[in-house]
Amino acid sequence: MKIGVFDSGLGGLVITKAFIEKLPEYDYFYYGDSAHLPYGDKTSGQILSYSLAAMRYMIEQNCKIIIIACNTATAISLRYIQQRFIPQYAPDVKVLGVVIPTVEVALQNNVKKVGIVATSATIRSHIYQQELKKIKTDVDIIEVASPELVPAIENNKFDLAEEFVREYSQSFKTVDSLILGCTHYPLIKEFFRKYLPDVHIVSQDELMAEKLQNYLYRHPEIESCLRKNGLREFKVSSLNKHSQKVATNLFTDIAITKA
Ligand code: DGL
Repeated sequence: MKIGVFDSGLGGLVITKAFIEKLPEYDYFYYGDSAHLPYGDKTSGQILSYSLAAMRYMIEQNCKIIIIACNTATAISLRYIQQRFIPQYAPDVKVLGVVIPTVEVALQNNVKKVGIVATSATIRSHIYQQELKKIKTDVDIIEVASPELVPAIENNKFDLAEEFVREYSQSFKTVDSLILGCTHYPLIKEFFRKYLPDVHIVSQDELMAEKLQNYLYRHPEIESCLRKNGLREFKVSSLNKHSQKVATNLFTDIAITKA
């Protein structure tokens, strides 16, 4: 059985790359639901229904553990998937999200003020605010939605993305940590570091692999079901003319195919 990574598009490849670098022996199955991208602009009902369809598909593809690398899908769908869908549909499968691991890292070093930049749906859910406050009740929080960034990245328009990052950075001058609360933003983390040199930029590609490694270590009943042939499959629900280029910037020998 495989480790599955789900995202609304190609952004989750950055997290997958980090998983493969740290844990290369496992078989991975990546699924990007690019036909419905961006999730960030959709209603909660739409996001939940796309996420459930993705879970069904990935479970059929023999994923034993699925990491929802998409913050928007984690924010809107994870609780329902874990509490309602999985117990009925595939009780042996584990589904994990990205929000709690990210919050744990953002709150390291006694921070007082945390910023979050994410899609409109993630910001609207206030999931980061809720999880931050559960751990540190007196933390100050600034949340900003940045709907332009994902389309710019998926279409390989990095100059445009940098312009937006420069503008958004103005809101975060006073924070200690800034959570890049979208799977696509690790691809432009250096822009955030350039415009916010004194802020701890929390980028999920730098933290999720260690969290997954710890999880597998603590759950040998899952780990022992995973095949270790080093196989990788990358599927998307729709290919656009930039998909291969964006993917090839990350993996030299990647073949992305339509699911
Ligand atoms: N990958 C999604 C996330 O992490 C954002 C992309 C989208 O809007 O679909 O929130």
